[in-house]
Amino acid sequence: MINIKNEILNILKNNIAIDEETILNNITEIKEKNKGDYTFPCFVLSKILKKSPNQISDELKNSIKTNEIIEKIESVNGYLNFYINKELLIKEVFNEFDKLKDKYGSSNIGEGKTILIDYSSPNIAKPFHIGHMRSTIIGGALYNLYKFLGYNVVGINHLGDYGTQFGKLIEGYKLWHDEYNIEENPIDELTKIYVRINNLCEEDEEVLERCRNNFKLLEEKDPYCVELWNKFKELSLKEFNRTYDLLGSKFDSLNGEAFYIDKMPEVIQILEKNNKLTESEGARVVDLTDAGIDTPCIIQKSNGSSIYATRDLAAILYRARTYDYYKNIYVTGSDQILHFKQVFEVAKYLDLDEKYINGLEHVPFGMVRLPEGKLSTRKGNIVKLEDLLNDSINHAKEIIKEKREELENIDEVAQKVGIGAVIFNDLYNSRIKDEVFDLKEMLNFQGETCPYIQYMYVRINSIIEKYDKKVLINEIDYSKLNDELTYNIVKLLYNFTDTIILSTKKSEPYILSRYLIDLARAYSSFYSNNKVLSDDIDERNARIYLINIVGNVLKVGMNLLGIQMPNKM
Ligand code: ARG
Repeated sequence: MINIKNEILNILKNNIAIDEETILNNITEIKEKNKGDYTFPCFVLSKILKKSPNQISDELKNSIKTNEIIEKIESVNGYLNFYINKELLIKEVFNEFDKLKDKYGSSNIGEGKTILIDYSSPNIAKPFHIGHMRSTIIGGALYNLYKFLGYNVVGINHLGDYGTQFGKLIEGYKLWHDEYNIEENPIDELTKIYVRINNLCEEDEEVLERCRNNFKLLEEKDPYCVELWNKFKELSLKEFNRTYDLLGSKFDSLNGEAFYIDKMPEVIQILEKNNKLTESEGARVVDLTDAGIDTPCIIQKSNGSSIYATRDLAAILYRARTYDYYKNIYVTGSDQILHFKQVFEVAKYLDLDEKYINGLEHVPFGMVRLPEGKLSTRKGNIVKLEDLLNDSINHAKEIIKEKREELENIDEVAQKVGIGAVIFNDLYNSRIKDEVFDLKEMLNFQGETCPYIQYMYVRINSIIEKYDKKVLINEIDYSKLNDELTYNIVKLLYNFTDTIILSTKKSEPYILSRYLIDLARAYSSFYSNNKVLSDDIDERNARIYLINIVGNVLKVGMNLLGIQMPNKM
């Protein structure tokens, strides 16, 4: 498809004394009506040319020429405004859709590059809490977005499956396993055992010693301890998978922390060789004051054991070698910002090629705030994600039932709406902001919500179904599409790929979510003012084709966020 910014660049570049990238970065879309489509601010040139923006813009206006796609140029108060040949743009978008269908919007800019996304990563034998929900949802969306751009993407669930707590859990299990219904309700029951053994450890030094010994045995691969540890892992995953199934999450690798046990000595060796390890209160640490980080990164505790950061460093080594990654992205809560700053800094001393250091990216997010009431966290009682998701599905079901009692497959629809609402809400704001989890808001069909978009999509489909004739691209009379509301839609459709690219560049799926709301809204105004099934057959065909593209982009866009679309609702 035609690249408008490049077209404008071509018009400008021989007349402007700055590099092409700067020109491109300064060309922006105009959002107001009737002022043109794109603008280039000339004040970026004033310093170099020592002239006022107005003068530059007026002079440029006289020396540059329009072309096929840019049909008019205006100089207004130091800005050059460009007007697009509307019919040509509509044709471009329609032909591109005809060619690509549900691949419309995709790209191959990622070809040959591997992106790792480390996301979800819950801790086994502990509840899958709402922070892990955010990581799962944001990471999952990034996964899909990168894939759609042609990258090779590897989703890694870096399970928290290692640590001294497993020595305790093994002890507790040995003592009391037949008192608990572990098979049926593994995480709750294992948590209870863990709390109980912890209490016992506080009273009884001997028990604590046994726990420590269990952990040591586990590290030495003692068969019985390994067997129990495997069991905890399997049972936890079985429970996590219920949540993953609801959210539609998939992973390519489940290499968790334990996977790196035998890969940590090398990290220590390299850091030692590079003289980066110093002693601090018995521990071995890397001092990071030169990098402006006050807290040193502990690599080995005083008792010789490794920590979370050591395993992350081993993982970076492993991932660089195994995947030759272009980017290695970590999606976690913002409470881990310092951790990743430290780890990325220490990684510079692992003798890796610089590209692997540049490819490290932490994608932090804010907390989830639950409304007061039955869902709020009571003391010592963590809200389970699975319950929240089911709550949303039930709510959705009630709402849909009220609207459409006769609807078939109501359970399936309620699931798509209920889960979609949770996902969309999670992805609707800049991720660093705290998220408000308010079911009523999320399921408001008139709000900036998932069901709003799903509903528009279903409406579009029902019109297309009613028409019951497949419109071919060569039947389209473009002169029937010359109204402003149509053009608004087409401009958005044109921006689909760029929106996805920007979402990945900033690791912000909300850019796509908001785009989809804009598109649904643009469709809604179009629909309120235009009869799609017009009596004029050419108008009807052209409009059907248009709304078919809208429906497709809504669906593909929502799928990229991880949301399923109902056919009816
Ligand atoms: N298990 C960790 C937690 O629950 C998140 C792990 C994130 N990934 C990583 N490579 N450190 O906080």
